[in-house]
Amino acid sequence: MNSSVRQSAWLFILLMFISWPSFSQTAKITGKLGKHAMVVCARKEAADIGLAVIHKGGNAIDAAVAVEFALAVCYPEAGNIGGGGFMVIRFNNRAADAIDYRETAPSEGSKDMYLDNSGNVIPEKSLFGSLACGVPGTVDGLLAAHNKYGKLALKDVMEPAIQLAQRGFAITSRQAENLNNYRKRFLQINGSDMPYIREGKWQAGDTLRLPELANTLMRIEKLGRKGFYSGLTAQCIIQSMKKGKGLISMKDLQNYHSRWRAPLRFDFHSCQIISMPPPSSGGLALNQLLGMVEPYPLATWGWNSAKSAHLMIEAERRAFADRSEYLGDPDYVNIPVPALTDSSYLRKRMLDFQETKATPSLEIKAGKVTLFGESEETTHYSIVDDQGNALSGTTTLNGTFGSCVYVKGAGFFLNNEMDDFSVKPGVANMYGLVGGEANSISPGKRMLSSMTPTIVEKDNALFMVVGTPGGSTIITSVFQAVLDVVEYHMNMQQAVNAGRFHHQWLPDMVYAEPTAFTPAVKSDLEKMGYHIMIRPAIGRVDAILVHPGGMLEGAADPRGDDAAAGY
Ligand code: DON
Repeated sequence: MNSSVRQSAWLFILLMFISWPSFSQTAKITGKLGKHAMVVCARKEAADIGLAVIHKGGNAIDAAVAVEFALAVCYPEAGNIGGGGFMVIRFNNRAADAIDYRETAPSEGSKDMYLDNSGNVIPEKSLFGSLACGVPGTVDGLLAAHNKYGKLALKDVMEPAIQLAQRGFAITSRQAENLNNYRKRFLQINGSDMPYIREGKWQAGDTLRLPELANTLMRIEKLGRKGFYSGLTAQCIIQSMKKGKGLISMKDLQNYHSRWRAPLRFDFHSCQIISMPPPSSGGLALNQLLGMVEPYPLATWGWNSAKSAHLMIEAERRAFADRSEYLGDPDYVNIPVPALTDSSYLRKRMLDFQETKATPSLEIKAGKVTLFGESEETTHYSIVDDQGNALSGTTTLNGTFGSCVYVKGAGFFLNNEMDDFSVKPGVANMYGLVGGEANSISPGKRMLSSMTPTIVEKDNALFMVVGTPGGSTIITSVFQAVLDVVEYHMNMQQAVNAGRFHHQWLPDMVYAEPTAFTPAVKSDLEKMGYHIMIRPAIGRVDAILVHPGGMLEGAADPRGDDAAAGY
């Protein structure tokens, strides 16, 4: 590992400790049950709004748009209108669609924009302040989804978020802690003129009112895209760019467009999985992981036994090596999706898997595939409406409060998604991920993501809606949630509560929650050559399982303030 990889890996570990407080596993063992509809997300206020929209006659898409705007208000750490995300939709007739509203690099962006004259990465440049911001995609994505599939008027889905911003909401103790931790950074970047700064410390139960954000949401409700990508909101964004020497221009805002993408579909045992294609690596990596472990008797080996964990970690090591080499924005790079997900390729990838020994990451390179000439703090919500339509959505500012740039006059944070690009080949980003040419910065290009909004069918019927925040750990958390249900027959809440672990090729380290391994399993894994680092919490999986007979089980992750609302 070179020194910059090591340095970034430590930053990654530190950040994960700061933004993921430990949780106590006094958790429930069955989630919220409902016969008709279910909404699970990071905050109770937003889950209730989603369910109310369904009661009003809205479908899963209306509910998702309402939930995401509400999260932009009551979960400003990650909920956003200044960031981006992905949605995977499955209709009750089995048709599926996906929308990519990932941020793009500004047109003035360039490959070396975060390097100094000697070619070294300038610390924090891609993480904090205006230069870290990608062109936001959330508003265009939500409006496009609503426009294509929504049943209710835009006013009906946006009004609850507007009222929430005007009326204010009581912050939780986690939020008070986050706001207090970020106070210095907020002041440094924005000065004190923002609603997230108050005299003295924030306490749980304090009311946060966001009138500027309410006004911006009203402009979007009235003017659609123009309420954000031009006019007053856009001028306010440009002002914050000028102040912090950022690159987003008026033209960049006007040119931003979300994209409809064909979802990635693949089989795993008797399940059919529907997930997000590039520019997220999530669906493809999930396909590789499930494909690599499918031939092995995981259920017989047992949940998080040394044998099962060893197999899963080795699959993770190989999938993340491929991610680093091949994945990027499909509009800019040729991604060999069919070759990387081909079952014989995945079986070959595991030929050097040694049953009793860890393979050092230095010995694992990306697999060799034939390139085809042509081809191609986050938050998650899972929704099933009363007609059986399902939606899995993940949205992000990237880091907690994104770049920490607060757009004055318009009331929201801008993302620091530029850090998801590979700012220099081989140098790790905030999540310790390394990449190369495929994910280098180019004007208008989308940065590679790990977000994995996923829907699972079993015997062609809706079975599970799942996703999570957590940077690179998103992929492995979704992987484990699927295995916990499909292989180990857990219910949804048990799968959400179950201890998780994560490996991402580089750094060559297994991150594990305290409840992931028994002391005996941990010691067996260490004897095989694994370095294990305990982390307080990995991911916040919000998911829905359809039980036989059709009962919905909504499972909110006890690692956060997440909530399920259903009936
Ligand atoms: O797109 C990605 O993969 C990251 N920007 C996600 C960031 C994230 O999950 C932060 N939450 N903990």
